[in-house]
Amino acid sequence: MDRVTVNGKSFRMSIPESDILREVDRVAAEINRDMDGANPIFLCVLNGAFMFAADLMKRVSIPCEISFVKLSSYNGTQSTGDVRQLIGLSDSLRGRNVVIVEDIVDSGLTMLHLLDLIREHEPKDVKICSLLVKPEKLKVDLHVDYVAMEIPNDFIVGYGLDYDGAGRNLPSIYTLE
Ligand code: IMP
Ligand code: MG
Repeated sequence: MDRVTVNGKSFRMSIPESDILREVDRVAAEINRDMDGANPIFLCVLNGAFMFAADLMKRVSIPCEISFVKLSSYNGTQSTGDVRQLIGLSDSLRGRNVVIVEDIVDSGLTMLHLLDLIREHEPKDVKICSLLVKPEKLKVDLHVDYVAMEIPNDFIVGYGLDYDGAGRNLPSIYTLE
């Protein structure tokens, strides 16, 4: 499938599944090396990071936990910037080594807000692991510890990411034409 139509818009394959998984392998190896003995708790940010988190966690071999949270700021193809509350956190983060697992860091505003909310839970350390970063769009001073891939400033769908709710199930990443 070279081209797909999602909600009436045409997208072209830009990152095939095999390329994504090669980078997920690399990131998992970095985490296994850096966080051995830290018993990290991975916080998968729903909905977008579900597929990345599943593939990543299959490759993380150190003792760890995984939990799921939700925080969304996106409408259509433009980031709105107004962020909502963190929901779904049932585990205590106090004194823990937390790794946030996100689908994409675009302007970075969502991640900055998420970091604030997570720090209220008094973790020992917070690291950020993002499948994708759009460096040209980063508006804030943010260090992403683990990045699978950097991409240009285009709108994409697939591998968990959506266009108005659709396209998350595509195993590869597609760019809006
Ligand atoms: P930020 O606050 O601008 O960094 O936006 C981050 C959120 O916007 C991500 O967690 C995604 O849900 C969404 N997002 C950003 N870029 C894209 C894209 O190209 N496709 C789909 N969703 C995106
Ligand atoms: Mg997201």
